Amino acid sequence: MENIQAVKGMNDILPDQIGWWQFVESTTRKLFERFGYREIRTPVLEKLELFARSIGESTDIVEKEMYTIADSRGEWLALRPEATASIVRAFIQHNLQADPLARKFYAIGPMFRHERPQKGRYRQFHQIDAEAFGVEDPMLDAEVMYMLGLLLRKLGLTAVVLHINSLGCTECRPVFRERLTAFLEQNVGRLCPDCQRRRHTNPLRTFDCKVDRCQAVLAEAPLLLDSICGHCAEHFSRVKGYLEDLRTPYVINPRMVRGLDYYTRTTFEIITDRLGAQNAVGGGGRYDGLVRDLGGPDVPGIGFAIGMERLILLLQQEQPAPVGVPPVFIAVLGERARHRGFLLSQEIRELGLEVELDYERRSLKSQMRRADKLGSRYVLILGDDEIERNQAQLRDMQEKTQSVLPLSDAPAQLKQLMISAA
Ligand code: HAM
Repeated sequence: MENIQAVKGMNDILPDQIGWWQFVESTTRKLFERFGYREIRTPVLEKLELFARSIGESTDIVEKEMYTIADSRGEWLALRPEATASIVRAFIQHNLQADPLARKFYAIGPMFRHERPQKGRYRQFHQIDAEAFGVEDPMLDAEVMYMLGLLLRKLGLTAVVLHINSLGCTECRPVFRERLTAFLEQNVGRLCPDCQRRRHTNPLRTFDCKVDRCQAVLAEAPLLLDSICGHCAEHFSRVKGYLEDLRTPYVINPRMVRGLDYYTRTTFEIITDRLGAQNAVGGGGRYDGLVRDLGGPDVPGIGFAIGMERLILLLQQEQPAPVGVPPVFIAVLGERARHRGFLLSQEIRELGLEVELDYERRSLKSQMRRADKLGSRYVLILGDDEIERNQAQLRDMQEKTQSVLPLSDAPAQLKQLMISAA
């Protein structure tokens, strides 16, 4: 019989990799909480309509990338392709606007998009997501990007650039959309079939087309950033000013349109040139109409998401793996020693140290080899003779020295030694 494999594009994260994930997650939690963000956990399955209405019917995500399920009552559900829609739903559903502490949220977890898998692009991937509601002031836009930059710096990531743009508002974007549609109409013969269709359904998306001949057309297209209204221009200019105050370098990228339709005004991406085709490590922006469009109060919002697989691929290129504290090893010889070692291991764990021991009656030599492989600094050696004398041998694997200590003192002494070795 053939072995069952994981679903294509969905990866196991094995123990030899988990240190990276835990390092990223704990650094994120500590930093975000300093900015007042609180964790929120929403279901991975939501009503399909939530994503269709927020991300947009004519986006790639909704048109072709969602994993959908019809439940027994015929209602369409979808595995979440991103976190923003779910967090906005929860914000509305639980009337979180009324709670002064619940305005800034973060979430860490798996997302699902049925894309063609390649390096940095998977069907189950993980995002770190942050969302802040209720503030229209550009100070928050700058702070959100500053927080994202600070997180990347804390993680040790340097080879990235912040791209920013403004996508205007419900006043100026429709006017531009008409202009762009007219331009695309004039050049329709030079566009790929997808962009020919997009010129009606979602003309801004043509900026993201990867086909060379469309890129050539779009190089001559009018730019939204040149046609945003006075209010949006003023907002954008203040965002840039605050970014400069916060010494956060950025590049203006007027062709960046993002793959989701809910954005207004400020949008941004973290770009790298070290991951091949998948050059966005993170992205986000303002969505001032989304809460209202989903049936909630008229509350502005802004946020971003980081792709954790891409982030970790980059970190691995730049730095050695985070190292944990290796376990204390208890080597035992003889049945009484084995039993005593078993009890001792629990005592030492209760003091907060990690302990490994041999359950399988292997030779002392092979136990020492295993301790060495695990990177243990200290090995407690127990034989039946030692037990008789209420003693243990303590071997320092680094100094290659051995000493005798009373068994009753062993846990406390090991703890002391591990603290001074750390
Ligand atoms: P997004 O740009 O679609 O934005 O995704 C954010 C990040 O998720 C990307 O920059 C990328 O690093 C990662 N990502 C996306 N798709 C994949 C994939 N198939 N495989 C691996 N990584 C992937 C959003 O999702 C918005 N919800 C961000 C946001 C939050 N905007 C406002 N608030």
